[in-house]
Amino acid sequence: MSPNQPGQAPKLPIPGVRNLIAVGSGKGGVGKTTVAVNLAIALSRLGSKTGLLDADVYGPNVPLMMGINQTPMALGDRIQPLQNFGVKLMSMGFLNPGDKPLVWRGPMLHSVIQQFLRGVDWGELDYLVIDLPPGTGDVQLTLIQTAPITGAIVVTTPSAVSLEDARKAVHMFSQVRVEILGIVENMSYLIIPGTSQKLDVFGSGAGKRTAESMGVNFLGEIALDPEVRIGGDTGKPVAARDGQDPRAEAFRELARSVVARLEAIGPQTGPKIDITE
Ligand SMILES: Nc1ncnc2c1ncn2[C@@H]1O[C@H](COP(=O)(O)OP(=O)(O)O)[C@@H](O)[C@H]1O
Ligand SMILES: [Mg+2]
Repeated sequence: MSPNQPGQAPKLPIPGVRNLIAVGSGKGGVGKTTVAVNLAIALSRLGSKTGLLDADVYGPNVPLMMGINQTPMALGDRIQPLQNFGVKLMSMGFLNPGDKPLVWRGPMLHSVIQQFLRGVDWGELDYLVIDLPPGTGDVQLTLIQTAPITGAIVVTTPSAVSLEDARKAVHMFSQVRVEILGIVENMSYLIIPGTSQKLDVFGSGAGKRTAESMGVNFLGEIALDPEVRIGGDTGKPVAARDGQDPRAEAFRELARSVVARLEAIGPQTGPKIDITE
């Protein structure tokens, strides 16, 4: 767990949850939810007990992408998470289905996140992945300061505008002293259909260079691939595919990088995943 900061309310650990991984971005539309969903499934496929908390309370997309939309049951005073692809799930989208937005102000937001973190029966988890809302404003800060985050991942595309905002996200996490596990470059390149040629749609290598220049780790690249989008739209994320599917393998590779990084930063490490596999 990240140490409590002076002047901040103590962030109590969540009993049973060993690692809390926040996934953030400077911008919407860069694939933050796609990365969070597929990372959670990949961690589960590698043998870890994994949960996914959709903290994007304004635009909860996890139910759609995880192919599940039911109302969770309460058992006593605990909400039972839903489950799909081996991942335990909680999202505001389960409680407020449909198109009507909810308006959350600071204190309410704080309490809904506390409820999601501590009022949900997560059980024993090696990893709880949190999909944060995009951006670096008050909402994100409230969320980050409410949760005992082990480390954060920043998702960006290689485009200059996305990277500019990703740098802000890195600064935001540093400001509140949340360990940064690294930057993921999503939509890095397109494989031209029928060839093995890479097309650098948004430029090449910029995510890695940005990570290096900021002194943070680079976790890897995910290709721009229609199958990734279709997987999200149809509730069948590519990471759930079996065998040697290259898209599933890309997210397993990302999961291994994240686990390796968690092992490098501290003793609260997760289960033994063979990262050389
Ligand atoms: N690597 C990718 N290849 C193709 N489409 C992608 C990829 N990553 C994300 N997308 C698509 O881009 C859109 C935005 O992604 P999303 O994960 O919702 O972004 P965010 O959570 O950052 O707003 C979605 O339609 C998603 O399916
Ligand atoms: Mg999203």
